[in-house]
Amino acid sequence: MNIKLTLLTAACALALSACGDNSAPAPASTATPPPAPADTTPAQTPPAPAEAATPAEAAQTPATAGTDPVVTGCEIVIESNDAMQFNTKSIAIPSSCSDFKITMNHVGKMPVAAMGHNVVITASGDMAGVVADGMAAGLDAGFLKPDDERVIAATEMIGGGETTSVSFSVSDLQAGEAYKFFCSFPGHSALMNGTISVE
Ligand code: CO
Repeated sequence: MNIKLTLLTAACALALSACGDNSAPAPASTATPPPAPADTTPAQTPPAPAEAATPAEAAQTPATAGTDPVVTGCEIVIESNDAMQFNTKSIAIPSSCSDFKITMNHVGKMPVAAMGHNVVITASGDMAGVVADGMAAGLDAGFLKPDDERVIAATEMIGGGETTSVSFSVSDLQAGEAYKFFCSFPGHSALMNGTISVE
């Protein structure tokens, strides 16, 4: 899907630039300019798809800016992006669920080392400590201290274009109490955090 869109976008970009190159020089002088655009077009080809992909991506992910994802049954699918955002600030787990599954799509393009995202759940008061210890643990540990007992659930750390999920027992959370979900990548939890609770 993404690949097809990217190829389409690239094709459009090439078609547009080809049209632009042809139509612009044509009225001025018919014979001389065409070789020059022909030379510059291939050179511009690599950056063109990357730039063209950005508006397409923005149009493709209105959920990030607008509507929250909804819980369906006993699971939710959320998104993260290259702007260091989740597309929701709160998740309400139905108390009727015995297990709950969170799937997170990283709809960005940046690699895990630059814009890695995970979903970690802790008690509200534990977030800062888990993030600090996670930073010390490093990327190879997914920016989480191994076997951190404060972590109720956590996905793996992923980069752009990847998807990850985690299932956990709802009985690990007390109804009516506020918990946090966040990304433990250094610096990300300031923006990438929200409230998760059983209701
Ligand atoms: Co992150």
